Parts: sequence; C-alpha cells; structure tokens
Amino acid sequence: MRRNTNSNNKKRIILGVETSCDDTSICILEVTETTKILSLNSYNQDFLLAKWGGVVPELAARSHVKAIPPLLDICFKEAGILPNEVTEVAVTTHPGLVGSLLTGINLAKTFALINELPITPVNHLYAHLEAIHLTQEVSYPYLGLLVSGGHTAFMWVKGPNEMEVLGTTLDDAAGEAFDKGGKLLGVGYPAGKMIDDLSKNGDRKKFDFPISYLRDRPGKMSYSGLKTALRVKLQKMTEDEIKSELSNLAASYQEAIIQTLKIKTNEIIEKVLNLNLKTFYHPIVIGGGVACNSRLRSVMKENFQSVHFVAPQFCTDNAGMIANWASKVPELRVDFPHCLSIDAQSRFVEKS
Ligand code: KG4
Ligand code: ZN
Repeated sequence: MRRNTNSNNKKRIILGVETSCDDTSICILEVTETTKILSLNSYNQDFLLAKWGGVVPELAARSHVKAIPPLLDICFKEAGILPNEVTEVAVTTHPGLVGSLLTGINLAKTFALINELPITPVNHLYAHLEAIHLTQEVSYPYLGLLVSGGHTAFMWVKGPNEMEVLGTTLDDAAGEAFDKGGKLLGVGYPAGKMIDDLSKNGDRKKFDFPISYLRDRPGKMSYSGLKTALRVKLQKMTEDEIKSELSNLAASYQEAIIQTLKIKTNEIIEKVLNLNLKTFYHPIVIGGGVACNSRLRSVMKENFQSVHFVAPQFCTDNAGMIANWASKVPELRVDFPHCLSIDAQSRFVEKS
C-alpha cells in the first residue's frame, strides 16, 4: 500500500488491463488517500515462446483472448468486489503489437460499455517507469532508464505524463540482446533470467565482447554487433567447449550489455543533460523486464548516487503498472461513450 499525494479522497476502483505483447495481465487497484492493489493476476505465454523461439504476433493475440476470461474471474474473486463497483478502466493502447493491444482494448471497451465507465489510454513505457511509485516515493524530475524486451530508452521525467526521450537504442533493445544471445547459447526463450542465473557462476572477464560506444552519438546505443560477435565466437567453438564454458560465455555477454548501459547513463548525464556526474543528485529510476537483472542492479547502485529500481514483481509486463499510471493522470480519462473510440498505436519511440 502506498500513500497517494494526489488524492481528492473520492474512492476510485480501477480495472487495469495489459496485453501489449505476450503477457496477459489484469489488476484491480483501489485509490483513496492510499493506493492499494486488490488483485493482480497475469498469464505469460513463455511455453508458446519457447516452442517458436520468440513472439508470434498472431498467436500472442489469440492467447490473450483465451487468457482474459479466467483472469478477470480470479481478479474479481480475489479483490472481493463486484464488476459494478469498478469506477474506471485503464488499458495499454501504445506501444505494442497491434493485434495484442486490440485484444485488451476490446476488453476495456466492452467492460466500459456494460458499466458506462471512462477509460484511460495508457502509454506502456511511461507505466513501466512510473511503476516505481507502487513501492517507493521518488521525486520529480528523475532520469528514467527503461530496459525491456522491446525498448531501451533514457527519459527525463518531470511528471507521470511529462517524459522527454534523451536517448534510445538504434537497433536491438537490451532485452532483445539477452533473448537473441540466449537463443544462440541454446538456453531457451525468453533468456534474460536464464543468462542472469547462469552468470552468477561465470567469469565475466573470460571472453571479450564488444561495447558499442557510438561516441559521436551521445545517448544512442546499439546491441546488434554484440549478438553477431557471440555468433562468430560460438562458430569457432565445439559443442563440448560451449557446454563447459556456458556460464562464462553468459557472464561475459551479459557484462557487455550491462556496461553499455552504465557507460550510456554516464554519457546521458554529462553530454545530453550537460550536468556534472559527481554532483548529479537527481534520482535515477530503472524499470522494464531487464531491470530484474541482478548484475545491472549491483553495477548501477555501485556507480550512481540515487538509484531506484522498480520492484521485480512490477518490472516485467503487468497490469499493476497500467492501473497505477492511470491513477496518477485522472485528467487523461476519456469519458463514456467517447472512450469507445480509443484505438491502438504500435510505435512510440522511433529507433533512429
Ligand atoms: O518489460 P518486459 O516484460 O516486456 C517488454 O515490455 O518488452 O521485458 C521482457 C524482457 C525480456 O527480454 C526478458 O528476457 C527480460 O525482460 N528479462 C531479463 C530478466 N528478466 C526478464 N533480462 C535480464 N535479466 C533478467 N533477470
Ligand atoms: Zn513492457
């Protein structure tokens, strides 16, 4: 439970819906002078991803359709409330896979139509960073680092809906680098957690992997060369060598991803924000699936003054962060029946 400084004391019950990629998630959030999650349940498609080696958009959208009804049921039972007690709906509308987004949006619209409720269209990326407020008080402005499967971006955050993009990846996202590397290493999919776990017993200095400095493009990152370097290295090794070196390969590969994020955080502060690293006192908030990574957590805490990681249970895609974001921007609610025309949008941050 978190104290809610913006409250006008009127109780709000928000039904949050997240289906932007491969996780189906529903949350019921109560907002009074405090914010409290009454229920939060998710279903992930990892077994589908493992079978196909990645997200298949059409299958992901169909899987959401199947997962939604039981999740809704469980959420209302756990929360101990009736659907007609919900006062508003919040749903991810962008960015994401259009088919997946539309599944959640249609659930939101149907629920709003039956109960004549407003809907808040939610920016998934903003919600990832603002999920920090589900467990911690962090003041604005802060430097946000969003590291997920689809995005890697630095944001200057002045408020829940006031975020300026300071830097992004030019190609693969950090999570994508983990997942593609994991595929090459044969550790399954999605691979971030497996590489993280393997690395705990590995030597991160054993193999050299390239860090893409892109010195002439402050804040810009690139991970596609790293994955190619891994592929080339593996082609020169026998199967037995790969097996015996697996944790060292994982640890060295992971280290290149993490050091890139550390170097680029330095660069964003000094070259993009034009501030002195030693006296940089603003909070740094790190969210998104890769923010679960144990090595990233220790490297960032060792190197920067005021680092705040989103709690692990709110890092990977979840509807708690969606309802939480909506709770902070009541002015963005779209009233019924106009809310029935909200739509999905695939892109938010252009990569180049
Ligand atoms: O935020 P998220 O659930 O989905 C997107 O919005 O994209 O992030 C999923 C990503 C995947 O790439 C997954 O491999 C990565 O987060 N991930 C991790 C860890 N746990 C999940 N990456 C590194 N270390 C972890 N412990
Ligand atoms: Zn996400």
